[in-house]
Amino acid sequence: MVEVPDEIRAARLAELFDLVVDSYDNVGVPFFGPIAERLIAEVDPRAGARVLDIGCGRGAVLFRLAEAVGPGGEVVGIDVSPKMVAATAHEARARGLTNVSVQVMDATAPTLPRGAFDAITASFMIFFLPDPAAALTAWRSLLVPHGTVGVSTFGAWDPRWEQMEDLFGPYRDRAFFRIDPRDPNGPFGSDGAVEGLMRTAGLVHPRTVAFDLDLFFDDTEQWYAWTRSHGQRQLWDSIPAGDLDRVRDAALARVDGWRDEQGRITSRHRIRLTLAQRP
Ligand SMILES: C[S@@+](CC[C@H](N)C(=O)[O-])C[C@H]1O[C@@H](n2cnc3c(N)ncnc32)[C@H](O)[C@@H]1O
Repeated sequence: MVEVPDEIRAARLAELFDLVVDSYDNVGVPFFGPIAERLIAEVDPRAGARVLDIGCGRGAVLFRLAEAVGPGGEVVGIDVSPKMVAATAHEARARGLTNVSVQVMDATAPTLPRGAFDAITASFMIFFLPDPAAALTAWRSLLVPHGTVGVSTFGAWDPRWEQMEDLFGPYRDRAFFRIDPRDPNGPFGSDGAVEGLMRTAGLVHPRTVAFDLDLFFDDTEQWYAWTRSHGQRQLWDSIPAGDLDRVRDAALARVDGWRDEQGRITSRHRIRLTLAQRP
């Protein structure tokens, strides 16, 4: 496999998330919001807390955190995508939030004051980083003693998504991720593996909370729109134009079979939350 330098990988991720900024979490399928709610419930920041949200995207966690910590608290969001940051900063101003700030910053080594945050959240982003344990080590230094880190990642994949691998696998750009988040033997392959990353980073008392999130799609077109509205867009965009209609039609035909007894297209996602503390 061609080894892509980390800064090029980060630039490509920024481009990817710049591209999806308008549709991100905005096609009528609640996904990042429900995960954010569960993550915040586990991190449980007190009123007045200072919290850093890493890879804040369009603010699924950030805006809920702002409410949780209240006007006396402070929430800082960072993201590598300038368009995500611009849109989220604009929304924070439109909502009249005085306790939120957002900036463009790479999560691998955030340039923020040490010991400044009571908690750090990173929802559905850590698997994009080339060296997650090194990033967690850098994040640890930003926490106060006994401060909490909480990350969300994918648990076991819905077997129906795995069954699509014959369609998408040949086009998967393996250089995009240094670490395959789907690899059962990789650092995101099990609860214990993610807890191990936390320990390697010098964090203590790691624990896992897992739950299933059911998604409902009105029709196959909404499923397609949803898969193009977030990081999976990269997969579609890797398919050459000459193959795209064939792959898309085959995928939609399979998804049409994912109907429940009420005729709704459903998809079940196992979500893993991993929490740990700075000693
Ligand atoms: C799947 S989105 C999740 C966004 C948000 N946390 C949520 O739950 O909706 C991943 C986010 O991580 C950001 N990201 C990816 N790599 C990053 C990096 N190296 N530094 C900072 N942000 C990064 C992307 O730009 C994107 O906004």
